[in-house]
Amino acid sequence: MTDLHLPLDRSAGRLAAQIAAGFRAGVRSGRLTAGTRLPSSRDLARDLAVSRGVVVAAYEQLTAEGFLVARRGDGTRIAPLARPDDPPPPPPAPPAPAVPGARTPVDYDLWPGSPDLAAFPRDRWLAAERAALRALPDDALAYPDPAGALVLRTELAGYLGRARAAHTDPARVVVTNGAAHALSALTRLLRADGRTVLAVEDPASARQLPMLQAAGVRLVRVPVDGQGIDVAALARTDARAVLVTPAHQYPTGVVLSPDRRASLIAWARDADGLIIEDDYDAEFRYDREPVGCLQGVDPERVVLLGSVSKTLAPAIRLGWAAVPPPLAARLRTHRLHTDLGTPVLPQHTLAEYLRSGGYERHLRAMRRRYRARRDAFADALRRHVPGARVHGVPAGIHLYAELPPGCDEERVVARASRAGLSVAGARPLWSPGRAAHAPPALVLGYAGLEEGCLVKAAELLGQAVAAGARG
Ligand SMILES: Cc1ncc(COP(=O)(O)O)c(C=O)c1O
Repeated sequence: MTDLHLPLDRSAGRLAAQIAAGFRAGVRSGRLTAGTRLPSSRDLARDLAVSRGVVVAAYEQLTAEGFLVARRGDGTRIAPLARPDDPPPPPPAPPAPAVPGARTPVDYDLWPGSPDLAAFPRDRWLAAERAALRALPDDALAYPDPAGALVLRTELAGYLGRARAAHTDPARVVVTNGAAHALSALTRLLRADGRTVLAVEDPASARQLPMLQAAGVRLVRVPVDGQGIDVAALARTDARAVLVTPAHQYPTGVVLSPDRRASLIAWARDADGLIIEDDYDAEFRYDREPVGCLQGVDPERVVLLGSVSKTLAPAIRLGWAAVPPPLAARLRTHRLHTDLGTPVLPQHTLAEYLRSGGYERHLRAMRRRYRARRDAFADALRRHVPGARVHGVPAGIHLYAELPPGCDEERVVARASRAGLSVAGARPLWSPGRAAHAPPALVLGYAGLEEGCLVKAAELLGQAVAAGARG
């Protein structure tokens, strides 16, 4: 007879249910195959030292569920039918796509956008989560305030005031799932208000453009030069809202100059415009204190967006918008009508992490780490990639390296990839019209590699650049 492997825990009771569960597991795992003949209820009862009624009940249950078939004269067998709760077999996996240029595994990940993920403060985050959960009243586990937990909005208002010279209070802060979410929600509200044209810097983050397009606004691209966005060019567009990265333009790394800051605010006042300030990595400035945010200059005309994606980890998906109170109320309603708010426990965890001072301590440590990495990398690029020019100020977690004239950006990226380097070309970040004239450049994220690795990566990049020179 088939060895049925039906472990029973007599102290747990419900023996018929346990026998039935054992059979189901055997069928699902494929151990008991269709057509297998089962022992009679009398024999099985004896083997298992249970009453016959227990086995009869289990067999009846399994027959009703379709696992077993019982025929007079043929005994009881495992059903030949498809198993009732079996998922259909998965389709065969498609063959892995061929990788052009047979890319070797990445040894040096310089793809921009991530902080040092190995530095995520796991223990401190866990401690903050424990403390938050312990203190969380039961009521807080109901549907949350769609604008965000008051405790987090309060902590964020304090932090943004201290660290970014923002003008905030809890009523102006809306918690979101990253800055991307705030941007998507906000753009939809703007469109509903008739602000259907949004000005965006050129170049800009390739990650954000599809989100903005999906929100149904028309994008106009406004060039960026060594002082930041060209406000005179902005004023010539029909946009009444603009998305900017004043503290550290993405990707070029320039800081919006004091004159441009003033003229941008003047534009907003004259044109009844709204400035959306993406403050994505402003905590990291290495040559001086970060420039205060624009929102602090005119909180009625500027919306400040931020998140923990560059300071802790993008996977946390926690961000915020500091907005004028009427817009905060509308964002809150938008959340109520679209997703009922951000998960509560991570909000309380971040609030606790801020309250304890841990977040700002972490930022100080990361600032030291990233400054050392940037210095080492920029220096190594100067030595190993002659003719390359690093743009912008020492800040953030990426740098923009213009390649020597005559370099073919795509070829350099492909060569680098074959050498085990993951790097992003800058061309996709420009509008099609300007991309054709933009000097070849790379956007290099350095936060996740130690200095020694960055020096080696610069050396390999130098070889890729030499090989990628045209002609
Ligand atoms: C310019 C810019 N701002 C902000 C973000 C961060 O978005 P989030 O906070 O949703 O992670 C990114 C992400 O790549 C970005 O490129």
